[in-house]
Amino acid sequence: MRGARRGSGNSTNLENVDWSSLRQLIPFMTEFKGRIGLAVLCLVGAKLASVGLPFILKRIVDQLNGEGIVGAGVDSNTLVIVPIALLLAYGLVRFSNVLFGELRDTLFGRVTERAMRRVGHKVFQHLHSLDLAYHLNRRTGGVSRDIERGVHGISFLMRFMIFNIVPTFVEIGMIMILLFWNYSAWYALIVLLSVVTYVGFSIIATEWRTETIRQMNSAESNSSTRSVDSLLNFETVKYFNNEAFEADRYDENLADWEAARRKNRLTLFGLNGGQSLIIAMAATASMVLAAYHVSQGIMTIGDFVLINALMMQIFLPLNFLGFVYREMKGSMANIDAMFSLLKVESSVQDVSDAPAIKVEQGAIEFNSVGFSYQSERSILSDVSFTVLPKQKVAIVGGSGSGKSTIMKLLFRFYDVRSGRILIDGQDISQVSQQSLRQVISVVPQDTVLFNASILQNIQYGNVSASDDEVWEAIRMAYLDDFIAQLPDGAETQVGERGLKLSGGEKQRVAIARAILKQPKIMVFDEATSSLDSRAEQRILQAMEGVRGDYTSVVIAHRLSTIVDSDLILVLEQGQIAEQGTHGELLALGGLYASAWKLQNAD
Ligand SMILES: Nc1ncnc2c1ncn2[C@@H]1O[C@H](COP(=O)(O)OP(=O)(O)OP(=O)(O)O)[C@@H](O)[C@H]1O
Ligand SMILES: [Mg+2]
Repeated sequence: MRGARRGSGNSTNLENVDWSSLRQLIPFMTEFKGRIGLAVLCLVGAKLASVGLPFILKRIVDQLNGEGIVGAGVDSNTLVIVPIALLLAYGLVRFSNVLFGELRDTLFGRVTERAMRRVGHKVFQHLHSLDLAYHLNRRTGGVSRDIERGVHGISFLMRFMIFNIVPTFVEIGMIMILLFWNYSAWYALIVLLSVVTYVGFSIIATEWRTETIRQMNSAESNSSTRSVDSLLNFETVKYFNNEAFEADRYDENLADWEAARRKNRLTLFGLNGGQSLIIAMAATASMVLAAYHVSQGIMTIGDFVLINALMMQIFLPLNFLGFVYREMKGSMANIDAMFSLLKVESSVQDVSDAPAIKVEQGAIEFNSVGFSYQSERSILSDVSFTVLPKQKVAIVGGSGSGKSTIMKLLFRFYDVRSGRILIDGQDISQVSQQSLRQVISVVPQDTVLFNASILQNIQYGNVSASDDEVWEAIRMAYLDDFIAQLPDGAETQVGERGLKLSGGEKQRVAIARAILKQPKIMVFDEATSSLDSRAEQRILQAMEGVRGDYTSVVIAHRLSTIVDSDLILVLEQGQIAEQGTHGELLALGGLYASAWKLQNAD
């Protein structure tokens, strides 16, 4: 397989975070440049207001205290007027601080949401472009969880990286400069020391907690995988009376989860406790210093209040830092896991500028085709046959002999290892997959339906078909009688994967939607195996009526359904053992003849 095949699960691998995921996000954010600019302006406004606030507070305290700025005289008029103006200004600045913050979030929210949408859409689109092998190997649910987590990671990262971490450090820098200018360098030093200690401690403690968090996450996903798997197998659990066994196994997972949570809580206590201690020490030190300066007459009470307020302002956002740091790294890892989905390449790819296939006749030719899923085990070797336009070819053979594989190769779910497959003389590996799949309809061996109504499932075959066409397909698939019996008719919901329909009903829905596609080539993989003989005969007759319209490939176990084929291929262990018409093969007296005898013994 080409490309990187990692990704699902393991998303909270906090080590080895690829910081380039941040860069990958940039193209998704450029859609709203104006908005981003405005949001940054609001951010600056909010920060200016919040840094300005303590200074207004200081002036108010000083005015009320009857002091001016140290050394300046006080004029009796300002005593009355200025406090009121200052109080109003205080209210105004406080309000604008909050208002700018809200405006910023409102403006930027749209940028974030648009980026989330674009990324989610792109990943989804990409997943559908990947080959079948990828989808068979992925863990159900794992990939969609990756997308979900990644998209939420984007939201978190944008919110906190752009509007929390960076501005907080800018603000701290501003405050330090102000303290340095207006007061003693000691205050700036205390801030610097405490911030450095705080950040250093947070990073080290967070790294130390990483393993615990990883354990907790994996315990969480283990228990959810276990419960989902168990509930999906509900029937099997009942068939084997294993409810207690299941519950015990689930409880083992829950116990792990409980233990991991406990450990997590204790380490969190360590982190938060340490952070609080650093903050308390820094606050105390600066207060002691400020109190000393006031007592010495170097500073006013207002200055004391100002310094206290500034300290609070620094430590409040810092308090979030440990949390934000951890979450940010987690988000980054999640985004990375999601972007690594985009790096997975399909192993079945169009050649560059692949033309659309042109199919008039629907002739199929397999030219000594060899194939294996894994290189160690060959599945098909030297398979050659020719189907003339509008003919019906049947493939029979034992279970695991490679019948469905032939169908998958024709549909180009996989590329052949050797040989060529031609449709109307065109090599299918040289035309676009989209156009190839347009001309082939498949009724697969195991039909899976969407959790929607019967009608919607059938319309899926051709979303632009008219109602008449849909009902014609329903009649041909012998579904009309069944639908007439249903209280909700064609609007009946089929349940998850179509499990509320019987096996035969599901097959008929699959046949109807394949007919609706109006293909040039129709492939039936055991398409009527679950039907009773009468229903089968009716469908075969209906199909016979339009037989002249397409070439059909029929895979069947019940030989009675394929006696009229123009060509019958007998497959054994990936090789064509016999081929010919029913009469020819009977005359040959080989595998086919003995299978025919066996099936018609009664
Ligand atoms: N995705 C896969 N990866 C690996 N091996 C596979 C894969 N799909 C099928 N096989 C193997 O390839 C062989 C042929 O499978 P195939 O589905 O073509 O058999 P079949 O003739 O359709 O059998 P049946 O009559 O039971 O449907 C089987 O042995 C199967 O185990
Ligand atoms: Mg099969």
